[in-house]
Amino acid sequence: MLNIAVLVSGGGTNLQAIIDQIESHKITNASIKVVISNNKNAYALERAKKHGIPAECISPKDYESREAFNQALLKFLEESGVDLIVLAGYLVVVPECIIEKFRNRIINIHPSLIPSFCGTGYYGLKVHEAALRRGVKVSGATVHFVDEGTDTGPIIMQKAVPVYPQDTPQVLQRRIMEQAEWQILPAAIDAIANGRVEVKDGIALVRE
Ligand code: GRF
Repeated sequence: MLNIAVLVSGGGTNLQAIIDQIESHKITNASIKVVISNNKNAYALERAKKHGIPAECISPKDYESREAFNQALLKFLEESGVDLIVLAGYLVVVPECIIEKFRNRIINIHPSLIPSFCGTGYYGLKVHEAALRRGVKVSGATVHFVDEGTDTGPIIMQKAVPVYPQDTPQVLQRRIMEQAEWQILPAAIDAIANGRVEVKDGIALVRE
């Protein structure tokens, strides 16, 4: 059984997709051990509690230094016995000490087809604003392992979604969530939980 920590900052619709697919057995061999938010008001924490999942707020604001926060988060994850960390709309930069200890055991969902519209500054609606400014005809989402760079780790799954001329950033964001994010994040977790993902020479290989 793969023990998962889901790290969130906001609404938690991706968290909800994971919970739903675990409950409906579309994700197998995995369970959410804890949901951690940096923001005590994140609705994602309520979603966890409604499903009986332990929900914790660990915020940089509650520590005297960034380093103290980083160490507290690392300690909490290690003591929770977590095998996989899922970043589902987590707006805090994951510190190197955690990336090192959880090498190829942290995944992130990004709302574009990496390497387009990713890296520093591309988060939330900014991703979709940039895609619309560029006039792309497809966008989508990517699940990738997290390394020391921003959105640079091995790509696990991607799904493309059409972009229409009348789209607003909000409309495009919603379509990408519904048609891509909520599908490929749970699918990637299921693939990892069932031993179908391996990383070789910086490339993630996923078996059907
Ligand atoms: C999603 O668009 C995700 O790709 C991005 O942040 C958003 C999180 O939404 N990184 P939610 O909190 O899962 O509803």
